[in-house]
Amino acid sequence: MEIIILKDHEQVSRYAFNIVSETLKKKRNAVLGMSTGKTPLRLYELMANAYKKRKISFKDVITFNLDEYIGIDGKHIGSYRSYMNKNLFLHTDINPKNIFFPDNNIKHLCSSGNEYEKKIKQKGGIDLQILGIGENGHIGYNEPISSLSSRTRVKMLTSATMVLNKYPFKGTKIKQPRFAMTMGIGTIMEAKKIIILATGSNKEDIVAKAIEGPVTAMHPASVLQFHNNVKFIIDEAAAKKLKLKDYYKEIQKYQKDILKKHKR
Ligand code: GLP
Repeated sequence: MEIIILKDHEQVSRYAFNIVSETLKKKRNAVLGMSTGKTPLRLYELMANAYKKRKISFKDVITFNLDEYIGIDGKHIGSYRSYMNKNLFLHTDINPKNIFFPDNNIKHLCSSGNEYEKKIKQKGGIDLQILGIGENGHIGYNEPISSLSSRTRVKMLTSATMVLNKYPFKGTKIKQPRFAMTMGIGTIMEAKKIIILATGSNKEDIVAKAIEGPVTAMHPASVLQFHNNVKFIIDEAAAKKLKLKDYYKEIQKYQKDILKKHKR
């Protein structure tokens, strides 16, 4: 696990953007796993800006979103499809045929998970998974005590998660759904590379638990300790409770120095 501690949200977003950009430069038809929430918003803005300047292209990129609320129309402002359209997809040249979400139609819930898993495999698996972290340690919508080997399925959200993610539904006629279809933890763990972003002091407790705590289904993100290519990209505020913070910074500095030497 690599821990990158940066000054603020802007730096975290820029660092993550460089990784996405490198990935797309190396593989123009890369398969990206997409996350929602407030944390990746600036990253998506940077990606859209880079497309605008024709520095990167999404023409052949394939995306799989982590999760979607059950029974909500993709056009509703609270849906993750609408979030992705608004914040990224509509500002790029991505082919709509290459955008995937788990099928959230109530009639298809039994088959939707398996279909999504099949589709991910068919496209060669996820090259780079972008993750955020919930204050209770969820990744995607894998709430505490989700099986650490779970696959794409329906999950009921905790009331705390409901409150934190209520904002897009405010002032709309649709009630925030209590259930979501989410990639499983086992599914996420199969991504070839994972970056997980966390910023702000509201994440300081969970970041310390996920990175330095025991691996436990109570804090689903802690399972990332078992992944062999994962970077936690966090800001100073979110890093505050890390016991080995100085050590992570020393490693970061050491790596930077080596890179500099190689460039010379
Ligand atoms: C939601 C999403 C997660 C996301 C989390 C954190 O629950 N399903 O994928 O990581 O929110 O959100 P935020 O970045 O707003 O803290």
